[in-house]
Amino acid sequence: MNRNATPAQPIHALHVERFSPYNFDPAQDVALEDLQSMFEAARWTASAFNAQPWRYIVGHKSSQPELWQAVLDVLVPGNQAWGQHVPVLALGLIRKDFEHNGKPNAWAQHDLGAASANLTVEATSRGIRVHQMAGIEPELAIERFELAENIQPVTALAMGYAGPNPELDPDIATRDENPRQRLAVEEFLLAGSL
Ligand SMILES: Cc1cc2nc3c(=O)[nH]c(=O)nc-3n(C[C@H](O)[C@H](O)[C@H](O)COP(=O)(O)O)c2cc1C
Repeated sequence: MNRNATPAQPIHALHVERFSPYNFDPAQDVALEDLQSMFEAARWTASAFNAQPWRYIVGHKSSQPELWQAVLDVLVPGNQAWGQHVPVLALGLIRKDFEHNGKPNAWAQHDLGAASANLTVEATSRGIRVHQMAGIEPELAIERFELAENIQPVTALAMGYAGPNPELDPDIATRDENPRQRLAVEEFLLAGSL
C-alpha cells in the first residue's frame, strides 16, 4: 500500500511515508520495544512550562487484552468498525491543570498533539503506522478508567502495521484509496510569504 505524500517541496522521508491507514494488518503485532521507543519519543516533546500534560492509556491486545478491549469500547462505533482489527489501541489524555500553580493549562491539548506527533514520527521510522481519532466517548472513558477530575480524554490512537485486512468492511477498506488532499502552504500562511 503506497499512501506516500506528494510534497511540493523537499521534506524528510518520514513525513512522506506517514499516513493514517484504515487497513491494519491484523496478523502483525507491534513489539514491546517499538512501543517503548514510541512513548519515549513522546516523553521528550517540548511543552508549555515543561508541564508535560500528555497522558496515555495503552492497550496492547496480545499482552493486555482486557485493557485493549476497554479502549476499543470507548471509541465511537465508526472507529470501532476498523479499530477492532488493530493490535494496539491507546487513549490520549491531558492533565488539565498546571502542577506548579493549579491554574488551567491552556496549552495541554496542543502539547498532547505534539507528543502524539513525535510518537508518530518514531513509529514511522519503525514502519509502524498511527491513526489518531477524535471519535471517542469521553464520558464513557472517564467512567471506565475512573479518571481523576483533572484528567480529560481527548483522542485515541490506533497503532500497527498497514496491510490488507481481509476482515475489514469493504466500504471502510476503500478509504485507503482516496486521494490525500492538503491546503497549499499559502492557504494557511496568514501573513508573510515564502
Ligand atoms: C486529532 C485527530 C483526530 C482524528 N480523528 C479521526 C477519527 O475519529 N476517525 C478517523 O477515521 N480518522 C481520524 N483522524 C485521521 C484524519 O482523518 C487524517 O489524519 C486526515 O484525513 C489526513 O490523513 P493522513 O493522516 O493519512 O495524512 C484524526 C486525526 C487526528 C490528528
